Amino acid sequence: MKRLANKRILLGITGSIAAYKAGEIIRRLREANADVRVVMTQGATEFVTPLTFQALSGNPVHQHLLDNDAEAAMGHIELARWADVILVAPASADFISRLCLGRANDLLGALCLASHVPLALAPAMNQQMWKDPATQTNVQTLRSRGVLLFGPDSGEQACGEVGEGRLMQPHALIEALADVFATGSLTGQTVLITAGPTQEPLDPVRYLSNHSSGKMGYALATAALEAGAEVILISGPVDNSVLASLSHAIKTVNVTTAEQMLEQAQAFAHKADILIAAAAVADYRPVLAQTEKIKKSAESMMLQLQRNPDILATLKRQSPWLFSVGFAAETENLEQHARQKLKDKGVEMIAANWVGHAATETGGTFGSDNNALKLFWPGGELELGVSSKIRLARELVALIASQYDNAVQSGRLNNEQRNVKNVVQLRSNGSDNNN
Ligand SMILES: Cc1cc2nc3c(=O)[nH]c(=O)nc-3n(C[C@H](O)[C@H](O)[C@H](O)COP(=O)(O)O)c2cc1C
Repeated sequence: MKRLANKRILLGITGSIAAYKAGEIIRRLREANADVRVVMTQGATEFVTPLTFQALSGNPVHQHLLDNDAEAAMGHIELARWADVILVAPASADFISRLCLGRANDLLGALCLASHVPLALAPAMNQQMWKDPATQTNVQTLRSRGVLLFGPDSGEQACGEVGEGRLMQPHALIEALADVFATGSLTGQTVLITAGPTQEPLDPVRYLSNHSSGKMGYALATAALEAGAEVILISGPVDNSVLASLSHAIKTVNVTTAEQMLEQAQAFAHKADILIAAAAVADYRPVLAQTEKIKKSAESMMLQLQRNPDILATLKRQSPWLFSVGFAAETENLEQHARQKLKDKGVEMIAANWVGHAATETGGTFGSDNNALKLFWPGGELELGVSSKIRLARELVALIASQYDNAVQSGRLNNEQRNVKNVVQLRSNGSDNNN
């Protein structure tokens, strides 16, 4: 269940006799390496103690909305922002009706309202309660609002009756939840992503670089994989913690300098349909990288630098079939610079974000887990507000997927050159050796 690895699952538990089965759900989620936080309604705590779920999830259980201490630890809005998905299992008939009305009179109801991530309900109740027109109308209303319904199953019930209303089996619930992250919007496409900083050596021990952590590019690689794409990631040097966030299904090529990054990206471009250039490539490199360590002698010294290749513009020029998305990190005039880049590089989209002193309102960009993006494309723009990088990445990938489809259908991407290049490559190699 790789799709649930590192996902943040907010598990709501309500007052059903099936509340004890939530223990099994938590256990399976943790086995899938998901991060689980539990929210219990007052009703749920009548069936199972919060301590049980605290022990199983490894996190404190959230219960109260109007509680200063709980709000100070992780407020309800913060919790709503934290989640990648909300699963309410079991979902009682009463909770379903409150959700339908948009009630926010307890923590779980408030979270469901305050969050825009996918919301899934696994109802569990007496078969007559499930069949009741009130419940059925509520369920239909929620479905029409995009709420996902997992189950219920049919069978023998705790009350001795037989019928529909049993909580879906935990293993099936986990599979259904994993499917939430498989959008399939990029199935059949190959996405080439550059990420991280580059390092330009001055001598064997020193280099010029920048503060890029690689987190945004790695989040995009994960989001593209979730969307069904084959993903090739060309990565500059990043921390082990960032490396560890990556699925083994993503082909990763590690590079150090801008020239190496371009060379590797060129080697894979013929395979790709979409390019996302998220790396923070050094614009300049030392003219001469000394072979021996530069000694401390003179009071001052001059460094002569030369321009590095423009990876995004070069790739787009050489491989015009690539639906190309560039990143712009700016400290001033964000929109003006982004629009200029869009034009100069001839790409399909620019994702711009503030950096340095200008990034304080967006939670800081370099190294931070949060960001905010402003997207520009010919004839359109969209602002994605402050959110976690993985959530932003999913939104951006969804937008790229739909715009890529439009571009292909309208014949805007030049595929002829790609076909020619593929034939030339196969002839010169005897076979494709870039795997
Ligand atoms: C023993 C017992 C078992 C119950 N089981 C369920 C159930 O499986 N599903 C359900 O919707 N309600 C069930 N209820 C009723 C709910 O607990 C009740 O509607 C409660 O208000 C739900 O609160 P909550 O939705 O805030 O958790 C049960 C009540 C009792 C006393």
